[in-house]
Amino acid sequence: MSGLLIKGALIYGEGEPVDVFVADGEIRQIGTDLGIVDAEVIDAKGQILLPGFVDLHTHLREPGREDTETIETGSAAAALGGYTAVFAMANTNPVADSVVVTDHVWRRGQEVGLVDVFPVGAVTVGLEGKQLAEMGTMAAGVGAVRMFSDDGHCVYDPLIMRRALEYSNSLGVLIAQHAEEPRLTKGAVAHEGPTAARLGLAGWPRAAEESIVARDALLARDADARVHICHASTAGTVELVKWAKSQGISITAEVTPHHLLLDDSRLETYDAVNKVNPPLRESSDAAALRQALAEGVIDCVATDHAPHAEQDKCCEFAVARPGMLGLETALSIIVETMVRPGLLDWRGVARVMSERPAQIVGLDDHGRPLEVGEPANLTLVDPDATWTVRAAELASISNNTPFEAMTFPAKVTTTLLRGRVTARDGKAVGPGTGGP
Ligand code: DOR
Ligand code: ZN
Repeated sequence: MSGLLIKGALIYGEGEPVDVFVADGEIRQIGTDLGIVDAEVIDAKGQILLPGFVDLHTHLREPGREDTETIETGSAAAALGGYTAVFAMANTNPVADSVVVTDHVWRRGQEVGLVDVFPVGAVTVGLEGKQLAEMGTMAAGVGAVRMFSDDGHCVYDPLIMRRALEYSNSLGVLIAQHAEEPRLTKGAVAHEGPTAARLGLAGWPRAAEESIVARDALLARDADARVHICHASTAGTVELVKWAKSQGISITAEVTPHHLLLDDSRLETYDAVNKVNPPLRESSDAAALRQALAEGVIDCVATDHAPHAEQDKCCEFAVARPGMLGLETALSIIVETMVRPGLLDWRGVARVMSERPAQIVGLDDHGRPLEVGEPANLTLVDPDATWTVRAAELASISNNTPFEAMTFPAKVTTTLLRGRVTARDGKAVGPGTGGP
């Protein structure tokens, strides 16, 4: 059997159902009555065909914390979530501040074969914010690092950030900033506001994020460089990004599904599954983020998938690690927060989950238009499905999802990476999973 025939899909959820024939890793034909007989058929009746999703912000924990996630299990979670490319953050152990680590991440991802795992290189040695890492060597490696970030930590020293931006410019790579002024967040575990005050939790003020966003926009302007803002979480960040864009500054920003859906009222139970950096803010922030994503002020969705061990989450709020799972629930939460309220249509979903992130890092084989001759990195979504999140059923090793027992609309049914099925009906299938 050669090739794959996707039958009766709605491309971008628009128009009439069509068939899509995929062979040799590419979209070969699109139409009705294609006359293909020798192909495996995927019945996509009632389903929506989108370009495979691209996540600019994933923590895969390999090397170092393989008890919480590996490149293999994280790749499975990504494929099941409809992703064909993920960017694996550098805060591993050892830190991805050398080409040895970044090349390992790339190679292991290719070996697993479920999703393209692009390594993110650290901006500074050991994520310590003091000395620039060898960005050029990492960019020139097999893993060809195209994005650098100290995520988990902020590149807080303005002089180091300025140098990083200058280097990034000549290397043609992107700096992604975890915007958090550490002098304002010492000991902070929750959004600074009435909820944290009442619960007796130390507050993380909006200004800790916003002051770095403003500073970095100005540094990018002066260096004539691009800067990307990780996990925007406040209404003020939205205003600052909007202002910077209006000035012609090359700034882009991402928002996580959890900051679009949840707010700090979740903290009432002191359940650390809701602890995340930046923290869940107020409902007015979430509303501003949704509006900004709809309008393109915020460019894209990124999961900040952050697996953690049970002992690091099921403990006192103040000492629990921040972060939550995100890859397998992202699409459904975007449908819940953006599509259902009419803020985005399915073409908009393709834009914020696939096309824009691919453009931001300059990928030329992901996030492409659904046209003949393009790489077959594809996601099929059943828009009418509903499902209930059960951590135990997710592919991640870790269970730290704040969405446990919540019911969401829409489900990824099939993911294709270069024409090969990597996830189908809830199972990851690929070289690294014992599947076909
Ligand atoms: O909540 C978070 N978890 N925010 C980060 O910036 C890092 C991440 C992690 O690595 O767990
Ligand atoms: Zn971060």
